Amino acid sequence: MPKKKKTNEILPKELDASQDIDRFLSPEIEEQEEIIEVSLRPRSLKEYIGQEKIKEGLKVFIDAAKKRGEALEHSLFYGPPGIGKTTLALIIGNELGVRTKVTSGPAIERPGDLAAILTSLESGDVLFIDEIHRLNRIVEEILYPAMEDRAIDIMIGKGPGARSMRIELNPFTIIGATTKIGSLSAPLRDRFGSVFNLDFYNEDEIAQIIGRSAKILNTEIEKEALTELAARSRFTPRIANRLLKRTRDFADVRHDGKINKEIVREALEMLDIDSLGLDKGDKKILFSIIQNFNGGPVGLDTLAASTSEEKETIEDVYEPYLLRIGFLERTPRGRKVTGKAMAHLGVKSNPQDGLL
Ligand code: ADE
Repeated sequence: MPKKKKTNEILPKELDASQDIDRFLSPEIEEQEEIIEVSLRPRSLKEYIGQEKIKEGLKVFIDAAKKRGEALEHSLFYGPPGIGKTTLALIIGNELGVRTKVTSGPAIERPGDLAAILTSLESGDVLFIDEIHRLNRIVEEILYPAMEDRAIDIMIGKGPGARSMRIELNPFTIIGATTKIGSLSAPLRDRFGSVFNLDFYNEDEIAQIIGRSAKILNTEIEKEALTELAARSRFTPRIANRLLKRTRDFADVRHDGKINKEIVREALEMLDIDSLGLDKGDKKILFSIIQNFNGGPVGLDTLAASTSEEKETIEDVYEPYLLRIGFLERTPRGRKVTGKAMAHLGVKSNPQDGLL
């Protein structure tokens, strides 16, 4: 039997690559979600669960800055989305007892926008720049002297009469966050005194985060339900909290409000989230590699075209978790689906067929 035909048979109809999937499990934040996320956000290092080594380092640097009455060194956080980079930046501001201004790379379009923000900072303030890898080059160049010499150079006038004027800034701290450390230019990366890599949480930490959030939301949850939710949260606090809230809806509307394991299963089945937290989006990617590329390897551009997903979405949203659980492998020739993924998806690998 031709390879293509055989692999076609394993693609469930609902995972047709041409269909658009509204992705509940995206670790990216939705606008309406922000308010509730804020209420669940820890406000101090003590309340913050996980990332122990990073907290330990931060505590020393924060205490040292406070003791000397200086601004904290510019710090960079990188790691997958939903993992707590913004939360940590806000905590740092709180712990330092200063104001934190929040902006993002794409929000700062012109050098003047950044100059206005920088000149408004008071002594010791924190400026948090999310998605800092998306700053455009001209804006980025304003940041260099700001970070290094605490000054900005602005051009006054145009043409032959134009001249540059230096404006001194108050001592301040930039906290940058990025999902793509590799996309940051070397000159920008080198201007950060500390660089922290936030990684996925373990299941126990996620269970603790869910337990803490349930308390804040005034929701009773059984221990087994906590474990069940944690297992499906992709090691990501933002997803854990989102699943908790949806499960709480089920518990309130269909049951007596208390969350148990059965309610978690019922809710997540409705949401099409499987026992490992995979949703239709992940399965679309995996099945596309299996069906169209015989299990891989396949290049990112080709995979993006065949799944109608943006390359960036595959790289930033789907892949980190699939790599982490060993369902995808990155080889020099592209992405490959692993035997572990095949077993989970119930796809039989047949060596004679060349599939894996
Ligand atoms: N909510 C989201 N992330 C958290 C964390 N790391 N610790 C406690 N609560 C959280």
